[in-house]
Amino acid sequence: MTPKTFRIKSFGCQMNVYDGERMAELLGQQGMTAAAGGDDADLVVLNTCHIREKAAEKAYSDIGRLKREDGSKPLIALAGCVAQAEGAEAKRRSQMIDIVVGPQAYHRLPEMVREASRGARPVDTDMPAISKFDAFPARRRANPSSFLTVQEGCDKFCTYCVVPYTRGAEISRPWHDIVAEAHALVDAGAREIVLLGQNVNAWEHEGRGLADLIRALAKIDGLERVRYTTSHPADMTDALITAHGEIEKLMPYLHLPVQSGSNRILRAMNRSHTAETYLAILEKMRAARPDIALSGDFIVGFPGETEEDFEDTLNIVDEVRYASAYSFKYSARPGTPAATMEDQIPREIMDERLHRLQERIDAHQLAFNRSKVGANTQILIERKGKHEGQMVGRSPWLQSVHAETGAQPGDIIDVTLVAAGPNSMTGAVRAKAAA
Ligand code: 5AD
Ligand code: SF4
Repeated sequence: MTPKTFRIKSFGCQMNVYDGERMAELLGQQGMTAAAGGDDADLVVLNTCHIREKAAEKAYSDIGRLKREDGSKPLIALAGCVAQAEGAEAKRRSQMIDIVVGPQAYHRLPEMVREASRGARPVDTDMPAISKFDAFPARRRANPSSFLTVQEGCDKFCTYCVVPYTRGAEISRPWHDIVAEAHALVDAGAREIVLLGQNVNAWEHEGRGLADLIRALAKIDGLERVRYTTSHPADMTDALITAHGEIEKLMPYLHLPVQSGSNRILRAMNRSHTAETYLAILEKMRAARPDIALSGDFIVGFPGETEEDFEDTLNIVDEVRYASAYSFKYSARPGTPAATMEDQIPREIMDERLHRLQERIDAHQLAFNRSKVGANTQILIERKGKHEGQMVGRSPWLQSVHAETGAQPGDIIDVTLVAAGPNSMTGAVRAKAAA
């Protein structure tokens, strides 16, 4: 029997969130509907992440829980990066899986669902030349802040990372497709677009780069804000840095992972930058856009990391004064060069370093938030808050801002930031901004 209702659960990065939305649209086009909250769905798609340890184990245990009390089960599709990494092996590991579909094969999902309804167990982890993007229906729904994937894959081959294997080589979507999708999102109510890519600033089409694309998107009436993530230091061009000083709709926020502050570790990671060249990029960025909020990613406990290397990481955090940052314990990924390097770091040391790093990052985050108290700015309302009459929006610097207001999701309102917490701000409403 062909399923009538579906549920898609996305884990991991924003690109998975985007893919999840597009798969929902694709299934919707086939006449299926999203199962209402709490309801059982005929088809469950687990859109998984493989970036760190136990991802596969977690996916299999999630699958086990889909068994119903009467012993029946929904049709189950394993999607995302675990599907890509496990391939047909997934079907052997769990008899409950009906479909295995990798991130570059989502255009085949409806067909695979039909095959599975007839009892087959299709697997597709190909990375075909034709793009899944061409198969997705035109966008009719949008969030106030909407994701738009412009680039996928990675050619950088950092020694710890699975992405080059799960998402394949770097590909850029064509200019016109992106511009058309941006228009459709704005027509459907998006006020902000977040351009996504594993190496978003490597986006390139017919000689034009990300700065050109942002410039063109900024001209769309009704679109008020543009962001992009995640960038690689090697692709941080002067044109993109300059754009931050020139394009008002480009928000003052940059997520630029450094991973470590030690040049020895950066070399072992096959990062193409040093601490010094990374800092030089940020210095240029701050010259172009002095109020830019900086964010980054860190890995602690990479093989061979000494206490001294780790202190270099703490030092770079102090030097940059990040507005926010993400930090992770190194996780050996099968098939990556770092997994077989000597001198893997014991878990207790990783735990202790992560704790110290996070304390340092939190202190800078709070300092950044406090430095914005008193600022008159605008927030884009995204959702209701916990309390009656309270709404939550985002500042230009991507802070969550709570405000008492009658404004609705999608409104951009003038506020004064009046209080700072470690993870959010309080805003007091001034007059409503002209929409
Ligand atoms: N172990 C720990 N963290 C990792 N990341 C990527 N691969 C690994 C790994 N093997 C982190 C990096 C990257 C972020 C998305 O996840 O910091 O920037
Ligand atoms: Fe996770 Fe990377 Fe796949 Fe995103 S691309 S889901 S971060 S493994």
